[in-house]
Amino acid sequence: MKLTITTLVSGLALAAATAHASQSGSAVPTFTKDVAPILLDRCAACHRPGEIAPMSLLTYDDVRPWARAIRSKVIAGEMPPWAADRRYGKFRNDRSLSPEQIDTIVKWADAGAPKGNDGDLPPAPAFPSGWQGGEPDFIFQLPFEFRVPAEGQLDILRFWVPIPFDDDRFVEALELRRSNPRVVHHARVDVATVPEGCKVVNGILMGPDGKPDTGLDANGNRRNVFEVEGNNYHLISYVPGRGYERHQPGTGKRVTAGKWVRFEVHYNPNGEATTDRTRLGVWFSKTPVTREIYTKSAGQSLPTAAVDESRFIVEGKEILPAVQADGSRRRGRIPNIPPYAENWLIVGVTPITEPITLYALSPHMHVRGKDMKWVVTWPDGRDETILDVPNYDFNWQLNYELDSPLRLPSGSKITAVAHYDNSPKNRYNPAPEKEVYWSDQSWDEMFIPYLEYAIDSQPLSPTSTVPRNQR
Ligand code: HEC
Repeated sequence: MKLTITTLVSGLALAAATAHASQSGSAVPTFTKDVAPILLDRCAACHRPGEIAPMSLLTYDDVRPWARAIRSKVIAGEMPPWAADRRYGKFRNDRSLSPEQIDTIVKWADAGAPKGNDGDLPPAPAFPSGWQGGEPDFIFQLPFEFRVPAEGQLDILRFWVPIPFDDDRFVEALELRRSNPRVVHHARVDVATVPEGCKVVNGILMGPDGKPDTGLDANGNRRNVFEVEGNNYHLISYVPGRGYERHQPGTGKRVTAGKWVRFEVHYNPNGEATTDRTRLGVWFSKTPVTREIYTKSAGQSLPTAAVDESRFIVEGKEILPAVQADGSRRRGRIPNIPPYAENWLIVGVTPITEPITLYALSPHMHVRGKDMKWVVTWPDGRDETILDVPNYDFNWQLNYELDSPLRLPSGSKITAVAHYDNSPKNRYNPAPEKEVYWSDQSWDEMFIPYLEYAIDSQPLSPTSTVPRNQR
């Protein structure tokens, strides 16, 4: 009985909608009028020829066969990729759909995905081909065309390129572009210092023993352990959905004169011998830069802290910095994740010892990473969640850029809380029976709740912003 009434009611509703549609032409959403503007704005950056998505979603003919799949992906919140819980924070690069936009797509698909009038179609935006920000002011590239073998597993490789500037430069935008997207799995770029006793030969760092800094040593350890990481800092990473970053006007990343740009590339051979020459394009700031952007992660102490204040809490147990022979302190050792642990908890705390401004947050974990959230504790003791990623997806390591930069006074702190699933319930888990240790290969784990920030008491004197292209 109930079924009959419901059917009758929805039948009436449909009849009414159809009648209304035939009168006004607008009750059932159409592709040209209602759906295309959403797809062009929120999907086409990836769903167009030459980009990372498997199919283009630019025209009606492109989209029509995917209507059901689009419906289910937007309902599930899987497309567009955006994992922040809507209840916390506002982000200037938020590409998620509003409930109204989802509703429009669902109604359109349910009505048989009608095309509508050609005249309603919005003009297609001009998508950049190649570099997203136009031609860069300066390009750093791998020192040579790297030959990627057809098969095998490659260690993460490092390539060194000198920074040819006479003075430090600030870059407002950066883009890391793979020349061969089929084999570059992910990549990152740091500004780095050549360690004592080492030298760079043809773009490869040679250790004190004269052997290259790649691969593993006789004991199975990575050879680059002689690098002093404290001297290096992160510029940008490429992972799907990232690779182009534009900082707020007046802020930028420093490219230090006399240091090196160090590319780190993870190649995945794809059955065919090929080559790649990944590049970093940079755009100098057009307005004077008064704030330098630093990248650290929650749990680390800020470089301005008098002593290392880093703090981690693992499954309720505090990991304190280890005191070195020279009295300095270093991050304490984080215990391994036990086999089959389902909800293993790690917390990283960064005390704010002098005022900073936060610009962006980004989670980095590997395949056991489950969730991560960032909480600010204000000096009055009040806690505020500023980003929550409740279903972390290793394939989408997005950057969350705060809509309004957040000023944190000294006496506040940032806490990042993450869980890992090393059980068979985690469908990405390759080996639940294994203890998981910490390293930078994807089959191990990492806990990096990235913080992008500036130190408020360090206004820079405006630097020269004249771009000089020395390619
Ligand atoms: C940041 C890039 C990106 C954006 C933005 C994006 N997609 Fe995707 N999309 C992908 C990639 C990559 C895949 C394939 C891998 C996957 O399914 O995760 C995909 C897969 C899909 C699939 C499944 C295809 C299949 O083979 O089953 C659908 C449907 C889809 N996207 C629809 C959309 C819609 C609709 C939007 C906008 C509302 C959108 N996507 C926005 C990158 C993106």
